[in-house]
Amino acid sequence: VRLHLPNGTQVRIRPIRSADKLLLADGLRRLSRESVHRRFLSAKPRLTARELRYLTEVDMVDHVAYVAVLEHRPDMIIGVGRWVRDAERPDEAEIAIVIGDAVQNLGLGTALGRQLAQAAVARGIRRFTATMLPENRAAHRLLEKISAELDALAPAAVAA
Ligand SMILES: CC(C)(COP(=O)(O)OP(=O)(O)OC[C@H]1O[C@@H](n2cnc3c(N)ncnc32)[C@H](O)[C@@H]1OP(=O)(O)O)[C@@H](O)C(=O)NCCC(=O)NCCS
Repeated sequence: VRLHLPNGTQVRIRPIRSADKLLLADGLRRLSRESVHRRFLSAKPRLTARELRYLTEVDMVDHVAYVAVLEHRPDMIIGVGRWVRDAERPDEAEIAIVIGDAVQNLGLGTALGRQLAQAAVARGIRRFTATMLPENRAAHRLLEKISAELDALAPAAVAA
């Protein structure tokens, strides 16, 4: 998926891949402390090799993840979004999204969320959960929008 942010930035959204480990670690290094804290709910100066494997070697069935990269610098990850299916409730998944500070509030989180919702519906997910700080208004608003998207894509399941 290609998109044009309102500030002119051209972006491509694609599934994450195993070869993204260094790019992902780089992206984390560029994030502000505030954004890292909001995403991981803790300070996360760097990811361990094990964490990098978990975050990039996804099966696209129970764990689906996409990255947003700059169209002219495809080695620059500027956003990541994922969901992980709940082991006990297989129609639920926990979602997490993080967008680079320079491109927050430009619709990129919404675009990643839309991709995640489409993939979720196709894989039997009916509900998203997320762990967010109570004061994180952008995250709460984004989860609302993505949940509405999920409902709209699966009207039969909602009515049932
Ligand atoms: C939360 C986050 C993913 C949102 O992504 P984004 O690309 O900035 O969001 P979007 O531009 O798509 O906007 C999504 C909604 O949030 C609102 N929003 C965005 N930034 C906001 C802010 N700083 N304060 C209040 N609302 C905000 C937008 O207005 C939009 O709602 P609308 O469509 O009703 O106007 C991003 O800000 C981020 O990465 N934050 C740090 C990590 C984090 O908090 N992750 C979520 C927890 S897992």
